[in-house]
Amino acid sequence: MKKKLSKALVELKKKGKSTFAFNLQNFYQLEACVFTASKLKVPVIIQFSERFLRFLNDKYSVEYIIRKYKTDYTYFHLDHCIDLDFIKFCIDSGFDSVMYDGSAFAIDENIKNTLIIMEYAEKAGCLVEGELGKVSGVEDGFGEEGSSYAEIMEIIRYVKETKIDLMALGIGNAHGFYENLDGIDISILKDASNQLEANQLFVLHGGTGLPENVIREAISLGVVKINISTQLKKETMDLVKKFANNNNKLYNEISYHDNMMVGLSKLFENYLHKYTL
Ligand code: 13P
Repeated sequence: MKKKLSKALVELKKKGKSTFAFNLQNFYQLEACVFTASKLKVPVIIQFSERFLRFLNDKYSVEYIIRKYKTDYTYFHLDHCIDLDFIKFCIDSGFDSVMYDGSAFAIDENIKNTLIIMEYAEKAGCLVEGELGKVSGVEDGFGEEGSSYAEIMEIIRYVKETKIDLMALGIGNAHGFYENLDGIDISILKDASNQLEANQLFVLHGGTGLPENVIREAISLGVVKINISTQLKKETMDLVKKFANNNNKLYNEISYHDNMMVGLSKLFENYLHKYTL
């Protein structure tokens, strides 16, 4: 089955661009993200954590959210997950891509589970992201401190045996704010890009706080999806606080909505304008 997201990502790679996968957690973010992608006419990935999806599905139904916010420019992705049944549920619900993150397991186990998901996803035209080497830090309940670097021999074996659509590599990147960037080792991505087929697509986790030169180099090596969560969470809370401080006598949901839409759209536009357009 044809994978629409794959086409969009291959196009970006040809142009030397990348899109972003934003970890969204509320309806203001959703509306602003969809609005900005349509305005700029560029693909964007709406990414949900497993924890947020479980919360969301109790209240609204994930299929409803996808139906409502699906446009020609929006794609839905499940971030880090090891629960095979939950990943299958997301595939059945209409996600464009899902991540099976077996990076904490031994390579044999990682490959075995990735293949189960690859086979299931293939029938639905859904892409699969895999990970080798651990991204440190916690992303909405997933993960722990302590990173590890992806090993080139394992990367080659994993890609050869799984034919993974999207490859995320631990290169010293981390979820959350970086204290320093000393641990980032872009040569891992360079080696992988040199050794794998030229059409291999890569993902960069831990996008918050990465400097422009690292992002540009990663894109030049085949990264087409960059994950942003922490920066979005911070800016969302900053917008809420600023609005509350400036409007302490005004209980006006419409101006609050406008405040969030304007502020969040600016954030999405900054990233997409710079690296995707
Ligand atoms: P940041 O929290 O650094 O933005 O990383 C997000 C991420 O990689 C989600 O998987």
